[in-house]
Amino acid sequence: MGKPKVVLGVSGGIAAYKACELLRRLTESGHDVRVVPTESALHFVGAATWSALSGNPVSTEVWDSVHEVPHVRIGQAADVVIVAPATADMMAKAAHGLADDLLTNTLLTARCPVIFAPAMHTEMWEHPATQENVATLRRRGALVIEPAVGRLTGVDTGKGRFPDPVELFEVVRRVLARGDLGQDLAGRHVVVSAGGTREPLDPVRFLGNRSSGKQGYALARSAAARGARVTLVSANAALSEPAGVDVVPVGTAVQLREAVLKASADADAVVMAAAVADFRPGTYAAGKIKKKDGQEPAPIALVRNPDILAEIAGERPRPGQVVVGFAAETDDVLANGRAKLERKGCDLLVVNEVGERKTFGSEENEAVVLGADGSETPVPYGPKEALADTVWDLVTERLPRNS
Ligand SMILES: Cc1cc2nc3c(=O)[nH]c(=O)nc-3n(C[C@H](O)[C@H](O)[C@H](O)COP(=O)(O)O)c2cc1C
Repeated sequence: MGKPKVVLGVSGGIAAYKACELLRRLTESGHDVRVVPTESALHFVGAATWSALSGNPVSTEVWDSVHEVPHVRIGQAADVVIVAPATADMMAKAAHGLADDLLTNTLLTARCPVIFAPAMHTEMWEHPATQENVATLRRRGALVIEPAVGRLTGVDTGKGRFPDPVELFEVVRRVLARGDLGQDLAGRHVVVSAGGTREPLDPVRFLGNRSSGKQGYALARSAAARGARVTLVSANAALSEPAGVDVVPVGTAVQLREAVLKASADADAVVMAAAVADFRPGTYAAGKIKKKDGQEPAPIALVRNPDILAEIAGERPRPGQVVVGFAAETDDVLANGRAKLERKGCDLLVVNEVGERKTFGSEENEAVVLGADGSETPVPYGPKEALADTVWDLVTERLPRNS
């Protein structure tokens, strides 16, 4: 089998320079990348850079190498097309089927998955014209990644920022691995919690846990790639923001509860992958607790934290909402998992065995997903992404049909 063929369309936004990093990652991981910039894109990054980094010729228009019919062949041959950055102008053209340069022609001839990574000022993104064009592209089956919130060109901040190129690379890798865009969560809102809560004792110390957040982030990435609108409530995870995901950072269990309850009001599914502390220190010392000569430390009195999973599963603010919990067990894994599933009242419980070297911080996981209907789905040892996919498969089966 030859190398997977990727078309990297680059339109004329300031984020074009970040697409160089995406291109590098794609070529270094064995993809054959054909960069198709627009004329405007070349104002930001020149053809020499695209050509040298990709190892392929670069043209913006249909009149070069006409004997090879590039306006048709490039799109036909592609395994995936990603337009990054996608300008407001480019999405308008794509939504209306214009074909006045090589990239727009390529978009009309591609029959493979097509991804747009828009980047622009907030006003341009929020304009009804842009939003309608995005909706049109999505309706036709393209994956349009929600831009991130953050620093834009100049001093402005807001929604419209280009996602981390490493995360865009992950989206492309995933789509190629699946062979399609698999948009079975399109039109759905899902909430995922990730990471581990930290319960402060004083301004410098906390009670925490070993959760890295990698499983929750894998769940968020997977849901976004399957077309969902994703809110990721992230507790102390030092990980890069997944592309197209709305990240809400939190610290403690109480903050996590608030953020999850707020986001789940209109959610189709809530997946609680975060490791939430059961207890927190009953008092918080406003100044750093000092050691005193000759004195033993004072015991730490703990109080219970709210049981967020049981609360969400009991309330179900949206009818038909699917609620998924995670249980990390050290022994008697399945029996404890089944008991927890019943106690919490959730639809699915992902049970995994944890220990010093198992699960926490690693890239792999092994689990059994228990269903309230008695089902048991073993997920063999493998990447956290595979477990994430299985969870969404099981969630999708349980979701009421989209009205
Ligand atoms: C400095 C500068 C930065 C720009 N950044 C963006 C941007 O981030 N997103 C966008 O949609 N348009 C941006 N534009 C406007 C586009 O370049 C303009 O709409 C152009 O016609 C797009 O052409 P294309 O879609 O064929 O690449 C920018 C323009 C300039 C001068």
